Amino acid sequence: MIHSQHDALVDIEAGDEPLSNRSANPFFADIAAQRVSRRGWMAGGMAAFMTGFLPAGSAEASATATGPQPSIGFQPVPVAVQDRITLPPGYSVQVLIPQGTMLDGSTGRPLVEMSGEEQGRAIGAHHDGMHFFPIEGRAPDQGSSTEGLLVLNHEYVEPRFMHARAAGLSLGAGRMPLEDGARNPDEALKEINAHGVSVVRIARGADGAWNVVADSRNRRVTAGTPMEIAGPARGHALMRTKYSPDGTRTRGTLNNCAHGVTPWNTYLTCEENWAGYFVNRVQAEQRPREQARYGVPVQQSRYNWDQARGGADEFVRFNATIQGADATADYRNEPNGFGWVVEINPFDPASTPVKRTALGRFAHEGVVFGPVAEGRPVVAYSGDDSTFEYIYKFVSRAPFQAASASGALLDEGTLYAAKFNADGTGEWLPLVHGQGPLTAANGFADQGEVLVNTRLAADTVGATKMDRPEWGAVDPVDGRVYFTLTNNSRRTEAQVDAANPRSRNAFGQIVRWREEGDDHAATRFAWDLFVIAGPEDNSRVAGDAALTADNTFACPDGLWFDADRRLWIQTDIGENEQLRGALAPFGNNAMLCANPVTGEIRRFLTGPVGQEITGVVTTPDRRTMFVNVQHPGATTTAADFAAGRVNSAWPDGEGRLPRSATIVITKNDGGVIGT
Ligand code: FEO
Ligand code: CA
Ligand code: CA
Ligand code: CA
Repeated sequence: MIHSQHDALVDIEAGDEPLSNRSANPFFADIAAQRVSRRGWMAGGMAAFMTGFLPAGSAEASATATGPQPSIGFQPVPVAVQDRITLPPGYSVQVLIPQGTMLDGSTGRPLVEMSGEEQGRAIGAHHDGMHFFPIEGRAPDQGSSTEGLLVLNHEYVEPRFMHARAAGLSLGAGRMPLEDGARNPDEALKEINAHGVSVVRIARGADGAWNVVADSRNRRVTAGTPMEIAGPARGHALMRTKYSPDGTRTRGTLNNCAHGVTPWNTYLTCEENWAGYFVNRVQAEQRPREQARYGVPVQQSRYNWDQARGGADEFVRFNATIQGADATADYRNEPNGFGWVVEINPFDPASTPVKRTALGRFAHEGVVFGPVAEGRPVVAYSGDDSTFEYIYKFVSRAPFQAASASGALLDEGTLYAAKFNADGTGEWLPLVHGQGPLTAANGFADQGEVLVNTRLAADTVGATKMDRPEWGAVDPVDGRVYFTLTNNSRRTEAQVDAANPRSRNAFGQIVRWREEGDDHAATRFAWDLFVIAGPEDNSRVAGDAALTADNTFACPDGLWFDADRRLWIQTDIGENEQLRGALAPFGNNAMLCANPVTGEIRRFLTGPVGQEITGVVTTPDRRTMFVNVQHPGATTTAADFAAGRVNSAWPDGEGRLPRSATIVITKNDGGVIGT
């Protein structure tokens, strides 16, 4: 049994991936290891352990032959370490909307010269999950392939690449230093406004290049935008703050990692590593459980926004220390307004984003829907990306009706946590107040309390601890659900050894499952591992082959099925591990393309220095692909930065600071991407 030795304090200097689960549930790695020792990775494939489990008449009781296969025709690209995008022969790339691009189409000032207010009218930082909504606004994947609203997350910021004052300072990829004991308030505002979501109309011109188009719907949602709270936690005592004494509203969304797209054509943005943005200046053990279990720090907040000079309410709200007579007099409950899935209607710029609390509170990576059917519940899957956390699914109480479907479907239903059994079966454990151990006697007074403490509820019912669940994707043909598990701990590369290489899991894997009876609302499933990532001598792909030079990868994160059933896999080897130790052979972060039936995988794209590849979507015709390149140059050391040496100049070129940006990929013959 592996136990996390980490305290529940957020390590905000070293990356974006804190640990905080110290409960005693079994670890997925242990269960996977039991299966290895008994019959080896993948032996017999999924069919072996599904025998007798799925009804014989279900679509494919055997999971081996499953309908049409995707066409994958490009020449794989090699591992790369250069500061550039590399694509297969016959493909071209354009850079679009780097951080600081003005939403009104104007030129704007250089990023480091922008004010906080200007950043609030420009594309934010650290591009992540993303969707292209065809401009007609009728369906998320039907309509124009030349014009639409691109909606994307801005996960976090790298202050040293944003502020003129940073030049020459010895700074890593963390926070700016205080000035006379306080944060510069405009720098803090600029960082707040670089977070959140961008909605930006884009169009392809006659020359084939894509550009921003001024539009009344172009919009920034930031870490300060007013939001509604919906679902069972709305109005709960734990949600009351000085800003919202009745617990129905909050401000902003934080650390928006991956995303979701609803069947009713809205965008969901997911709050991942939000805990570190707050501080509660007490002894660690004095924090309430709804902070301690998520790692709210006790010394300082991630960017010290709470310490902005002047003490404006928009800044002091990040200080969750008890200061007033009750919860409506301070911000002790402010962190409880975060950790949710937030719905945004990109086609209504006046709409207020809504936090959908029924989907649970944790480090939401993203959310992915099962296929909808008239009269059936809506089902959404979501992973909690922290080491040893859980995979969840939500099943709506009301059935889907296309004519009237809305976000209200996400306010009532059942949240489940996944339990992966050693025999290849699995169970969905309900997180419902009054069911099983989730009672008042066990500390859960009502459903709001269950949801605010989702991780503790999942601990209590005995869900399976996973190796950092990241994105999910649903096979458009057979309905299988795939989830990336990125690694066990980013700090353990030095502990990986050849004799027992998976015990600390530096490389990650992709798990997949089928719901019983192919019903996404089912409470049982059958699972296997699609890929065990890693080097050629320490990896497996469906069909029992090892990865090769054409497709070795590590730390899978982004995951997306296109409509032709290509499975796109994106990697996020952490900033502290890239090009080092056991992760060195994988080069810069990359994107691969997989056939889910055969397990064929080819490396499609490699990115510049220091970044992660994250976020992928195509136009409906699959002939234009959008991909995000997040945090180029993040691996620059503090000493090098002080000396004026930054290890990436992507995308602007020599002598310029790196910026996150979207890239647009096309095939030179106008063909479908990936063929
Ligand atoms: Fe923000 Fe789990 O990646
Ligand atoms: Ca991610
Ligand atoms: Ca990351
Ligand atoms: Ca990641």
